[in-house]
Amino acid sequence: MTIEEFRLQCEKALEACRKESLEVDSLDTLNAFKGRHLGKKSALTGFYQGMRDLSPEEKKTFGQILSDLKTAMTEIYEERLKAIDEQILLAKMAKRKVDITLPGFHSERGTLHPYFKTVREIVDFFVGLGFTVADGPEVETDENNFERVNIPKDHPARDMQDSFSIADGWILRSHTSAVQSRVMKAMEGKEPVKILCPGKVYRRDNDATHSHQFGQIEGLVIAREATFANLLELLTKLLRHLFGEKRAVRFRPSFFPFTEPSIEADISCFECNGKGCSFCKHTGWIEILGAGMVHPNVLRINGYDESLCQGFAFGLGIDRIAMLKYGIDDIKKLYLDDVDFLAQFRKE
Ligand code: PHE
Repeated sequence: MTIEEFRLQCEKALEACRKESLEVDSLDTLNAFKGRHLGKKSALTGFYQGMRDLSPEEKKTFGQILSDLKTAMTEIYEERLKAIDEQILLAKMAKRKVDITLPGFHSERGTLHPYFKTVREIVDFFVGLGFTVADGPEVETDENNFERVNIPKDHPARDMQDSFSIADGWILRSHTSAVQSRVMKAMEGKEPVKILCPGKVYRRDNDATHSHQFGQIEGLVIAREATFANLLELLTKLLRHLFGEKRAVRFRPSFFPFTEPSIEADISCFECNGKGCSFCKHTGWIEILGAGMVHPNVLRINGYDESLCQGFAFGLGIDRIAMLKYGIDDIKKLYLDDVDFLAQFRKE
């Protein structure tokens, strides 16, 4: 066979392969096609077998033509394989269509708990005035909780803050004044101190407005120029911020072992506007918080020179404020995690 004749035969074989490839439309027909053109009984394999008897010189030229033919046929096969794979994938995808008419899954939008709404509102107010938030443990020493804020052992004021005893000398803190003790100790007599102490506290209490666990926010300012007038101004601003600019604010003398003088602050009743109703027990006023000038004993015990600086402190109950602001009648509702109850605060 001349080289020209061989080339012609190869072209014919390639032409047949190309033509048949157009009919391949499935994996089965593709496999049969592969057998016919690249398999043992194909013209291509026949050509390779015929090469055996050729001279080395001919092997080179014929071999080149043959290898080109094999490459061309393999390319045709691979092209079809790719096309068929794609077809199969498309068919699969068409079968697995997503039904966009099915109802979707969605999660309910939650809301900030009224307790934490109140915390944030109060903390934001004080942070805006340059206060720093201080934190401390809920298990406290008797010393930090009582002694360092001028409530020595056997002082009758301990009765009002009867708490849970953990071990000898350790209790669940009954007020966040314990954090103030820690901060004053850490400051080693330096001023100014301007802190806010929010947190959980514990007492032996149990009725509609008192629970064994509740939240408190106490504040402490120690500075040379911290005056009683500053305290009254600060508390008036706070109470109007929380309960509305129109609220009248009233201060009454009171007693706390850690402050002297001590006061309590009331606001005019927002239900009857001060006229007197069942909500304010017909007094026209609602009691909100306690405060006073830091007692000289507290300054001295905690390393401050009471002749050089003075300070004021205040404390308010988070639960009480939340109950007043959101009209909640039982403190326990704040701790039950009842979703139906909490859902009503989802306003925004
Ligand atoms: N520690 C007081 C209490 O728990 C609250 C308070 C703090 C009162 C600071 C006055 C000044 O009852």
